[in-house]
Amino acid sequence: MSETYDLFKNRVGEVHDLGAAMGLMGWDQEVYMPDKGVAARARHRSTLAALIHDRIVDPGLGELITRLQNVQLEGFEAANVAEMKRQRDRSVRIPRQLVADLARETTLAQQAWVAARKEDRWELFSPHLSKLVDLKRQEAEAVGYETEAYDALLDEYEPGAQAAQLADLFTEVRQGLVPLLADIVAADNPPTDALCRGDFSVEDQDRLGRLVLANMGFDFESGRLDISTHPFTEGLDPTDVRITTRYQNTCLLEGLYSNLHEGGHALYEMGLPMDYAGQAVGQSASLGIHESQSRLWENLVGRSANYMNWLQPQMAEIWPSVFGKASGDDLWRAVNVVQPSLIRTQADEVTYNLHIILRMEIERALIAGEVEVAQLPSLWREKVRHYLDLDVPSDTEGVLQDIHWSFGLFGYFPTYALGNLYASQFFAAAEAALPDLGAQISAGQTAPLLAWLREKIHSQGLLHQAGDLCRQVTGQDLSAQPFLTHLRQKFGQIYHLNG
Ligand code: CO
Repeated sequence: MSETYDLFKNRVGEVHDLGAAMGLMGWDQEVYMPDKGVAARARHRSTLAALIHDRIVDPGLGELITRLQNVQLEGFEAANVAEMKRQRDRSVRIPRQLVADLARETTLAQQAWVAARKEDRWELFSPHLSKLVDLKRQEAEAVGYETEAYDALLDEYEPGAQAAQLADLFTEVRQGLVPLLADIVAADNPPTDALCRGDFSVEDQDRLGRLVLANMGFDFESGRLDISTHPFTEGLDPTDVRITTRYQNTCLLEGLYSNLHEGGHALYEMGLPMDYAGQAVGQSASLGIHESQSRLWENLVGRSANYMNWLQPQMAEIWPSVFGKASGDDLWRAVNVVQPSLIRTQADEVTYNLHIILRMEIERALIAGEVEVAQLPSLWREKVRHYLDLDVPSDTEGVLQDIHWSFGLFGYFPTYALGNLYASQFFAAAEAALPDLGAQISAGQTAPLLAWLREKIHSQGLLHQAGDLCRQVTGQDLSAQPFLTHLRQKFGQIYHLNG
């Protein structure tokens, strides 16, 4: 039996290593690759994608899995086999031709999306999107589903999640957010972020970024920080985790919070179980859980009053004339301004999930065939008016703003909202387990929090599916309540809503 498991392990390791090569190429494309390399890189990656698909669907791997299912395995080993079986069953159902069609059409769609967004011409992108929606519907039919086709797509990013359940959860979120947002918008003397606006060199911001990351526990001997257009994290192994950021000369917030966000993703990757590196069970539990780690550091830690007590003197050392006279409290207000806006990536903690909810509604209807691609620009305007009370002046600031659909990522957006909910629930559990947490964060001591996250979440890898992990860590099913409680409490104070 151990021989069978070793054979299985080797094959899984090969699949993972090919994936790491693809990941490194993707990282390089965003950080270093010269512009003219794009066509060749698309070819390199599509060759690797096909090889990975071949390795996964290989009958030899299927046979090993079948044999191991008849053997009594436990813990990580059992989870490793179960997860690989899940991934393989999905891949086997998707015809190779469809994999190739999707690889080709997404490359074309991305190019078209860049041009359409730049020129604000929806018609350049819409034919590609129609094709992709058609291919993703085919994928969903091939994979299979119980209730609706969208579930089959969602399942790739958030195993076990179902659209109808998420929709109920998000309705609860929306019903909590709408009155809170109305109170905030109507509040007198709202805070401003003027303190964080001015002239800040990239060099100084990089210094702050590295200081913040080191303080979180980011290991620079197992990770790198670089610059890219869109910040992201690429974990090749717990010992090699790449994050990127972007800095604006006129405002500190984007760089600072992108570092905290990607730093949170990176800590998860660095803390995954070393003994299972390169195995299916050695990966993150789901994208929603991954996003919970980034959001926890970005918002629950990084936008808290406690953290600002520590951060303010650090910032005063780098920019004495700007932050020398400001208090931690001043800084706390400046980083927590709530303002309905058009662009998801710039949204604050309160309005962010509304951006996700409208995207999920649109893509769910699209995959169900209830709306056509041609209707999307007007549908987008309608929903932004409804949820955020804003007019959308252009498609570039509307339906064309996100890259996801051009990659064929349908069912991905909900994981962002799930991340926000998990983050609040996990942080509440951490506060209960670590009574001195607030004082520790205030003193810049984040190690106890990281140790707790390492033990409860990071080191678990994919031993448990997301929902089970949540119950294990917090004793409860995932709920909207910790998130809504956190927002009401914090913004009630900042906007003086409670009398
Ligand atoms: Co993220």
